[in-house]
Amino acid sequence: MTDVAAKDSLTVTDNRTGQTYDIAITDNTIAAKDLGQIRLDEEQPGLATYDPGFVNTASCRSSVTYIDGDKGILEYRGYPIEQLAEKSNFLEVAYLLVHGELPTKEQYDSWVHEITYHTFVHENVKSFMQGFRYDAHPMGMLMASVGALSTFYPDARNISDADNRHMQIVRMIAKMPTLGAWSFRHAQGKPYVYPDNDLGYTANFLSMLFKMSESKFEADERLVKALDVLFILHADHEQNCSTNAVRSVGSSQVDPYSAVSAGIGALYGPLHGGANEAVLRMLKRIGSKENIPAFIDGVKDGNERLMGFGHRVYKNYDPRAKIIKKSAEDVFEVTGTNPLLDIALELEKIALEDEYFVKRKLYPNVDFYSGLIYEAFQFPPEMFTVLFAIGRTPGWLAQWSELVQDKDQKIARPKQIYTGDRELTFTPASERWS
Ligand code: ACO
Repeated sequence: MTDVAAKDSLTVTDNRTGQTYDIAITDNTIAAKDLGQIRLDEEQPGLATYDPGFVNTASCRSSVTYIDGDKGILEYRGYPIEQLAEKSNFLEVAYLLVHGELPTKEQYDSWVHEITYHTFVHENVKSFMQGFRYDAHPMGMLMASVGALSTFYPDARNISDADNRHMQIVRMIAKMPTLGAWSFRHAQGKPYVYPDNDLGYTANFLSMLFKMSESKFEADERLVKALDVLFILHADHEQNCSTNAVRSVGSSQVDPYSAVSAGIGALYGPLHGGANEAVLRMLKRIGSKENIPAFIDGVKDGNERLMGFGHRVYKNYDPRAKIIKKSAEDVFEVTGTNPLLDIALELEKIALEDEYFVKRKLYPNVDFYSGLIYEAFQFPPEMFTVLFAIGRTPGWLAQWSELVQDKDQKIARPKQIYTGDRELTFTPASERWS
């Protein structure tokens, strides 16, 4: 140990040996590898950290998204989510996430043109999707078809080439609504609708979802705007489970379709993408405002959870929930109100004043109102995560792009603490079973 420890450092003493170590602190973190020097003796491995779920471990440096959970702040590339939701649109936000800065007029026009131009998929992708069972979950179909795209674009493996990366990013953002809409139509037994490239990104998605025999599907502008805002709100959320999956799989230098397919798999899980469905179920179960106090009592007694409340990161109102609440009002103006909204509003009012929730810093999260909006669009609950995946695609790709250019990154390969047997003697089956 040096006599005077550097100010930005941590001094630790290993009481097993009495040795003291100086470990540098950078960006309020210590490098886990620096702990490796702390060891009992040369025979033993160095000290490591144990952190299931990466609760307190930074896996990367990133300049994509900033979150301050205590203050309820979410920014993409430094821009507050509230401003982006109000004044931008999904494709501009996608450009911002992927490129790191807002586009000029020429850059924006060219980006929109590129994305629009790539909305179609190879006809064999359609045949592939048609091969799924009639009742296939749309998220499973999306995950498989995005993975399948890697076989249609084998050049995507060349991830070190910037132009090539750009090409795959454009393709994926462009094709995701097509694949998502077709997985929805499949379950309904309806013909798949080809993209209409006269329409904007979100209007085209709605056309592919709902068009029947009319020559042109024109969605209500307020619904288009509301869905576009939902896509913006879901576009990135730093190192969440699915983004971590994209990065982890991407760290093997596989093509981005395979990496994003892994992200879709992570999002498929109920702990990640499925909470809004649980909110809907809860609201339906409560049934009417009169039943709210009894329900709240049940939550406080620990018998159940108020779904759509609380967040691992946000210990304040989730900034996305505020925006969604406003979008819900806009959507209900078009579709007619949903009686469940009244229950949700009353629940929120009571919970925000109740000591149990206040003390635990439990506020509405992004999922509290989003399920209500999706239901107003007449999406079945299985589609909710597909919508989430379409919105999250630019974020996954921005993070993937950052990963492959980050010289610090290595193949993701965590350590383990081995708890099993050692050095047993194998007896062949013929002897064990005789
Ligand atoms: N209803 C009632 N009590 C709650 C809730 C809730 N929704 N959330 C947390 N609590 C209580 C816990 O019981 C605990 O109380 P205690 O200290 O008396 O034991 C305290 O608040 C802290 O809760 P934790 O579970 O430790 O908080 P954590 O950060 O681990 O969990 C989570 C966050 C999983 C989101 C949790 O709040 C929850 O289950 N919420 C409901 C599900 C939900 O809405 N998920 C969507 C999250 S947003 C997203 O993933 C896109």
